[in-house]
Amino acid sequence: METILRNRDLVSRDDASADLEDRGYQFGDGIYEVIRVYDGEPFLLDEHMDRFERSAREISLKMPCERAELLGRMRGLIAANEIATGTIYVQMTRGVHPRSQMFPPDSVPAEVTAFARPLDRPGAEQRNGVSAILTADMRWLRCDIKSLNLLPNVLARQTARKAGCYEAIQHRGEAVTEGAFSNVFIVAEGVVLTTPASNLILSGITRAKLLELCEACGWPVVERTVACQELLGAEEVFITSTVNEVMPVVRVNDQTIGNGEPGPVTRNLQKAFDRAIDGAADV
Ligand code: PDD
Repeated sequence: METILRNRDLVSRDDASADLEDRGYQFGDGIYEVIRVYDGEPFLLDEHMDRFERSAREISLKMPCERAELLGRMRGLIAANEIATGTIYVQMTRGVHPRSQMFPPDSVPAEVTAFARPLDRPGAEQRNGVSAILTADMRWLRCDIKSLNLLPNVLARQTARKAGCYEAIQHRGEAVTEGAFSNVFIVAEGVVLTTPASNLILSGITRAKLLELCEACGWPVVERTVACQELLGAEEVFITSTVNEVMPVVRVNDQTIGNGEPGPVTRNLQKAFDRAIDGAADV
């Protein structure tokens, strides 16, 4: 039986339920994180918790406990579910209160829910590459907040799926923003390019790691706006996310990227990312 974290308690899945008056349920009024677990250890945990707390601050949501307490409970969750390779999902909503748009009183505590589940690394897709469609970005102007409101992302991903594609790469006008659930990189004339962090994208934890690895590997990397046409004509395209890690994109719409196989820069960055995972496990 799966064990879930409900506020302070680890409870069995069957005993865990959400209140109908939870603001996450009614308004999507809350935030979340998805954290990778390798070898039973959360990966880039501090970075994820920094972003979680930042998202909370940006929507004036008060953490109900100290970070260390929450971390202790999340580790308890990994142990209780015996997760080796998997993910932790953690969300926090603005609590339970009779439905009203206004914030509830300060005395209403945030509701924290988390689960840890096994999930293999997507090896086959990483070796072969995946396809994507380009789709108009319909989201709000605070995509830097990892909000529970994911309706446009869900719709974009479903459109991709219907087209037989893995991811939807979103754009505002001519400018690529990010995937429905990932950040986007291209390689053009040997230079790695990615959309700069702003209110229009989620500043991905994997994206930041990749930028660091590019520097360490000596690959020229530039954060600047990427046009849709540039993406379609790129030598290589890849997406990054906690779940996908470094995922080559070999086709966008009807356009084959490069020779239709994951390119050399992407391959090297995948290897560098593997080493970062192994390195974290050695610490
Ligand atoms: N998605 N952009 C969006 C819109 C995302 O939803 C995600 C992650 C990313 C990549 O961020 P990171 O590298 O920190 O995972 C970028 C998570 C995994 C999800 O919702 O499942």
